[in-house]
Amino acid sequence: MTVNLVTGVAGFIGYELAKKIISSNNIVIGIDNFYSGSRKKVKDLESVNFYFYEGSITDYSFIEKVFNSHKIDYVFHQAAISSVGSSIEDPIQSNHVNLLGTLNLLNFSSKYNISRFIFASSAAVYGVLPELPKNELSATSPISPYALEKLTSEYYLDLFSKLYDLQTIKLRYFNVYGKGQNPNNEYSGVISIFHKLFTSDQIPTIFGNGNQYRDFIHVSDIVEINIAASKIEYSNKIRLICCGTGTKTSVNEIFALFCEKFNKNWKPIYKKERKGDIFGSYSDNNLMSKILKNKNTKEFKTEIMKL
Ligand code: UD1
Repeated sequence: MTVNLVTGVAGFIGYELAKKIISSNNIVIGIDNFYSGSRKKVKDLESVNFYFYEGSITDYSFIEKVFNSHKIDYVFHQAAISSVGSSIEDPIQSNHVNLLGTLNLLNFSSKYNISRFIFASSAAVYGVLPELPKNELSATSPISPYALEKLTSEYYLDLFSKLYDLQTIKLRYFNVYGKGQNPNNEYSGVISIFHKLFTSDQIPTIFGNGNQYRDFIHVSDIVEINIAASKIEYSNKIRLICCGTGTKTSVNEIFALFCEKFNKNWKPIYKKERKGDIFGSYSDNNLMSKILKNKNTKEFKTEIMKL
């Protein structure tokens, strides 16, 4: 039985990850401050193998208390203000949570000799450099505070490995989607926003010409790679993993899929492209596939139809 700290447990990915870990009879210590997470998700997780602490990852004494209360084996750090847009609006707050919060967790993880630290990074670190698909060796060039905070956190993980022998793995998530993603913010994921609007009979807005594309990966695949990353034999080759499907879908294609799903003949509302938005992003997922023993990732259209 392992003891797993999941930060951001009331959020979209943290919740699904915790559910999976608990269902395999391991213990989850969940933390969240409900900045964007939901209390309902925490209630849903109730089990003898689940302990919840409400607080912020940036709070030194709170995190110390959590590490003091349990002998933690693995840390899955999912908590973040996970939005490019809000990081541009408020870079100080974004940096405080995304960078200082990560450093606070790394600090206690090494002090308390945990087995491994798995970090939710982001494909946003690549910025607008033209090389595609992106792999683990592709150059990075952040164009938003959010991307810079994720990249700097990655460097901190490397540094903690070197300085304190902490095992760390960075997972660069491409665009994660699935049931339970919060649509209630202008910077929520495009799929959750479109789904909410189509459900309430409102026409979504597309920023830019809609030809921009992303690599959409289902949350269940992200859960799998997190768990695999905690179990795989530790080596230099697996310390950074791109987490995508290797396929690209444009925002116009998503709109068309939703029209099909909801049986609508709508034309989208087009508005000026958003600041910090990247045009194209998709992943070379060879390393991830290898780690998941060539298991196929979930098929986009099938999952959209199931939403
Ligand atoms: C997303 C993630 C980010 C992650 C990054 C990895 C979310 C909320 N953000 O950012 O955490 O680090 O991928 O690359 O999941 N769009 C519209 N109309 C809308 C909403 C969005 O046209 O109503 C467009 C956006 O302008 C963008 C695309 O859809 O071009 C995707 O946007 P979004 O889902 O917010 O994701 P990213 O910005 O790629």
